[in-house]
Amino acid sequence: MSVRKILVTNALPYANGPIHMGHLLGYIQADIWVRAMRSLGHDVTYVCADDAHGTAIMLSAKNGGVTPESYIASIQKEHESDFAAFNISFDHYDSTHSSENKIRAEEIYLKNYQAGHIAVRPVTQLFDPEKQMFLSDRFIKGTCPKCNTEDQYGDACESCGTTYNAIELLNPRSTLSGSTPVEKSSDHYFFKLPDFNHYLQQWTRDQGRLPVSIANKLDEWFEAGLSDWDISRDAPYFGFEIPNAPNKYFYVWVDAPIGYMASFENYIKTKRPELSFEEYWGKDSKNEVYHFIGKDIVYFHALFWPAMLEGAGYRTPTALFVNGFLTVNGQKMSKSRGTFIKAATYKEYLNPEQLRYYFASKISDKVEDSDLNLDDFIQKVNSDLVGKVINIASRCAKFINKDFNNTLSKQCAELELVQQFIDAGQHIMQSYEAREFSTAIRQIMALADKANQYIDEKKPWSLAKQEGQEQQVHDICSVGINLFRQLMVYLQPVLPALADEVQQFLKLEHFNFASRESILTDWEINTFTPLMQRVDKKAVDAMVDASKSSLTAIEPAVKAVKKTAKTTVTTAQNTTSESIQIDDFLKVDLRVAKVLQATTVDGSDKLLQLTLDVGETEPRNVFSGIRAQYVPEDLQDKLVVMVANLAPRKMRFGISNGMVLCSGDGFIISPASNAKPGDKVS
Ligand code: MSP
Ligand code: ZN
Repeated sequence: MSVRKILVTNALPYANGPIHMGHLLGYIQADIWVRAMRSLGHDVTYVCADDAHGTAIMLSAKNGGVTPESYIASIQKEHESDFAAFNISFDHYDSTHSSENKIRAEEIYLKNYQAGHIAVRPVTQLFDPEKQMFLSDRFIKGTCPKCNTEDQYGDACESCGTTYNAIELLNPRSTLSGSTPVEKSSDHYFFKLPDFNHYLQQWTRDQGRLPVSIANKLDEWFEAGLSDWDISRDAPYFGFEIPNAPNKYFYVWVDAPIGYMASFENYIKTKRPELSFEEYWGKDSKNEVYHFIGKDIVYFHALFWPAMLEGAGYRTPTALFVNGFLTVNGQKMSKSRGTFIKAATYKEYLNPEQLRYYFASKISDKVEDSDLNLDDFIQKVNSDLVGKVINIASRCAKFINKDFNNTLSKQCAELELVQQFIDAGQHIMQSYEAREFSTAIRQIMALADKANQYIDEKKPWSLAKQEGQEQQVHDICSVGINLFRQLMVYLQPVLPALADEVQQFLKLEHFNFASRESILTDWEINTFTPLMQRVDKKAVDAMVDASKSSLTAIEPAVKAVKKTAKTTVTTAQNTTSESIQIDDFLKVDLRVAKVLQATTVDGSDKLLQLTLDVGETEPRNVFSGIRAQYVPEDLQDKLVVMVANLAPRKMRFGISNGMVLCSGDGFIISPASNAKPGDKVS
């Protein structure tokens, strides 16, 4: 086999928020592929970086009262620790805010400039006179010019779907300052994408370059016609200044993909000086370059990026590998449902390798969305990994450890069976290489079933009780350990930490794909220790609870306010840790409700059970932790404000369908006296 030289990148996460389960789908997918290719003996370099530029990051830093540099440094630290916890094996992790990236971005820009691919012309945009900055669409709200719906963003109306230019909005206002923006013109720099129309139509249709479904989508864009791409932003902006254009900055998406190159360059500089940048990125490069990205950023990677590279005389990526989006329990990740699960929260409660396994069992080479169904996750991990794979080792190792001096039999009693497992590896590795991970997992689990059947038939545990059967028991368990070893070599790309432990348990020097060819006979092993715990449903539930946003913390927060009535505001702020945007709050459906009945709950000294009329056909049942504050009878027939769209929550005592907000002495905010059940509170 000839060794291939491969550079792999993952999309660079924004340095503006935590890594969550959705991100991890793409990072875990790439890492499994990288590890599989390494196991096959290829020379794989795997780099990534934080995407550190842009207005959003600049404003977040400002809000936090820190410099953008220290803001992005602290986020990068979190990102790196999350990736490490999930065993993402980057060779190098950088930031787009590096001097190498600045130099490379300038060079690529200037080459395109010299080749005539840059145009300059004035653009009129909305400008915030108070903040003294131009406003991108997401920082402008106003009334839709078509249907008159209020409170719409600067790019499109959520109500009627019309897209427009922010300047067309009626009554526009800046979401940053609340002031009325004014129209202002300034020069913008454009990358002339249409210059590459022919080149890109060819490029995107090259064999294997893109998933076919994506290439088809791109055809629609080609038919609609490509337009110039606005690559400049006026100061203030956190990014790199454009050469020979004072106060103009590269739009974040210009230097973001160049960050792939800069991260690789820094990797060479700091860790592998024998590699050559040119050999990977030069026009005549024979090496392979792959970008793993999510489907939402295809436009940037399949059009702008190859065009910029071509315009500057660099090679373009060999292929783009595109993943679909992740849903949790069948729906978009949601803070209020507790399914917006951060990597950091997951790792507090559960084993990261188990998520890797679950994702692997779902991933194919298609651009399909995947669902993390938490019940299915528990079931699959427990039955496949613990129940099938680990089970083989635990059933066999105990005899080897106890009765045979930790040494495998001198002979392999089932050469044919073990050889079958070795041979099956070819096909499994082909599936990995083709990014058909779910197929690879299916094949591995079929082998695991076979290994368990073998042990079930031979019943070493009953032979061990019979006189004169020692050799038999020794042989059977040694075969079992050999089969287990084969399976773990195949699972190594998915479960690297577990594979490391197994490698130690079996005292093996190598654990790559080729190493599996040797059958272990007369081989000393270590004493078996439990390799993996089952997933505990309680831990999953606790993780979901911990993931519920500060919205659901209103109740304890309000309680705290009640206790120290004088310092209401500060207490509330201190108790709700994470701030939310007005849009998050608008999702909360607050309704007037009438208490039809309030009773204590057997077995709980915290809860009251409320039956509420919310103006619906059926009354709602809500459990509320307010027993300490209220006598149930006093609540009868009173009006309360409730969160009507809180996802139902199963509690020990029944299902709670909403949440009531407390008020009480000293509070003046209450629904109008003529309010009736079901009224919306605004
Ligand atoms: N910074 C850009 C990428 C620049 S690459 C030169 C970006 N960052 S991101 O943080 O928003 O997303 C990082 C990656 O995570 C992207 O590939 C994106 O598609 C992916 N995902 C973000 N949310 C996701 C899901 N819910 N599901 C699957 N992938 C998701 O985009
Ligand atoms: Zn509209």
